[in-house]
Amino acid sequence: MGKTIIISNRLPVQLQISNGSINAIPSVGGLATGMKSVHSGGESLWIGWSGLTDEETPPELEGKIDQALKENGCAKVKLNANDIDGFYYGFSNRTVWPLFHYFLEYSEFELDFWETYRSVNQKFADAIIEKSEEGDTIWVHDYQLMLVPQMVREKRPDTSIGFFLHIPFPSYEIFRTLPWREEILEGLLGSDLIGFHTYDYERHFLSSVRRLLGLEVSFNEIYMDNRAIKVDSFPMGIDYKKFHDAALAHEQNYNEERSDFQLRLDHHKASAPDTKLILSIDRLDYSKGIAKRLNAFEYFLKKYPQYQEKVRLIILAVPSRSNVPQYQLLKKEIDELVGRINGELSTVNWTPIWYFYRSLPFENLIDLYTSSDIAWLTPLRDGMNLVAKEYIATRTDKTGVLILSEMAGSAYEMNEALLINPNNFEEQANTLQQAINMPKEEQINRNTFLQNRLERYNVEVWANEFMNALNEKRDLGRAFV
Ligand code: UDP
Ligand code: G6P
Repeated sequence: MGKTIIISNRLPVQLQISNGSINAIPSVGGLATGMKSVHSGGESLWIGWSGLTDEETPPELEGKIDQALKENGCAKVKLNANDIDGFYYGFSNRTVWPLFHYFLEYSEFELDFWETYRSVNQKFADAIIEKSEEGDTIWVHDYQLMLVPQMVREKRPDTSIGFFLHIPFPSYEIFRTLPWREEILEGLLGSDLIGFHTYDYERHFLSSVRRLLGLEVSFNEIYMDNRAIKVDSFPMGIDYKKFHDAALAHEQNYNEERSDFQLRLDHHKASAPDTKLILSIDRLDYSKGIAKRLNAFEYFLKKYPQYQEKVRLIILAVPSRSNVPQYQLLKKEIDELVGRINGELSTVNWTPIWYFYRSLPFENLIDLYTSSDIAWLTPLRDGMNLVAKEYIATRTDKTGVLILSEMAGSAYEMNEALLINPNNFEEQANTLQQAINMPKEEQINRNTFLQNRLERYNVEVWANEFMNALNEKRDLGRAFV
């Protein structure tokens, strides 16, 4: 058996240089947080971008950078500022991300972006080709690297190649608008196995392959150039034990080691003991529906004024892709909305919304999850949404209510949550009221089912199922030689 190589744009750590020394900062986002647990438990090498462009890297620090990455089981792909502009801020996040999340009007079809995407995908493929040997297993991740499987197969047909998409695959009617749709599909079809979070994304992909490439598709197999490519859904789990144990430890050490953040939460809780805390955590991204959520919150407070001073919404918005104009506009919109709603409804004793624009360390995420009575997550589209799963995992006494958008991939597995349509304010206001008044027994009952499922289908099981399916495919292939 060969080794496993994981490849994604974002590594589990991002490097920064300050005063000549290198700091490794944990990455944010579902791919990095989820795969980190899989990676740290195994022998795999993870290849990706370090977070530093060539221009930001003094030559004398190259060795130290490689060393810092090696300590984290990683190796870098070198990218320059122009690569990052066209590939990351450009094609990945101004073309593919909006299109695949059904924001057709935000999607820009620029030839320059596409060309840089292709050349940067080749850089990632070259890094794999250089580091891989016959019999290795290569696991390519996400929409930034959709051409990599085919590029690797051309030079290394003797490896097993798996691809997993962490975002939705849109319906054929949306996907067909992309000028480079055939090239993207052909790039992906260099894989032996292609995985999606949900059966719907898988179905959309198969339909695009059939209609745009005219290939034979039978159940979940695609036939191309005497090869069979398998397509399947693998809903990503979380490191349940890590979140649950951290919440238990948080409870046990409660009196000794309270973080400053927790002390602030406690202080506010003590001053208004019957106020319910409603939590939302997302990267500041238009797909997450943050602006709609704020408007829905205002609607709720006006429809049910008896809850003014009785609820508080905590919004943790993590800075993301801030060079992309749509994200800058969104930041401005959210800042203004929070200011307007707080300005209009605050009283001497109460601010309806606490807004944090930053990323928080793991310990503080646990503080937030464990202190909140309700998690309210309203993406307009989301491949999975791991935050929903993390919230449930930290509820050690099984209380707490999850309100989750039915547009998130995780909603398919979390039927016991209160599922809502994020565009329906009436429904959201009524659901908030239901959540605030939900009896404890009902909360416990719902969360028992949710926790059992999350514990069973954790991120390790997810990764093993994907790898087993990929290995099975290889063994079957050998049997036919
Ligand atoms: N997260 C984090 N730091 C923060 C806020 C969130 O590391 O300050 C993590 C969170 O724990 C979760 C991930 O970021 O694992 C977000 O994943 P999700 O699938 O919900 O959304 P994505 O950002 O991938 O679209
Ligand atoms: C989503 C994507 C990941 C990405 C993450 C954070 O989870 O599926 O591929 O890494 O968002 O976004 P960023 O652009 O900061 O890598």
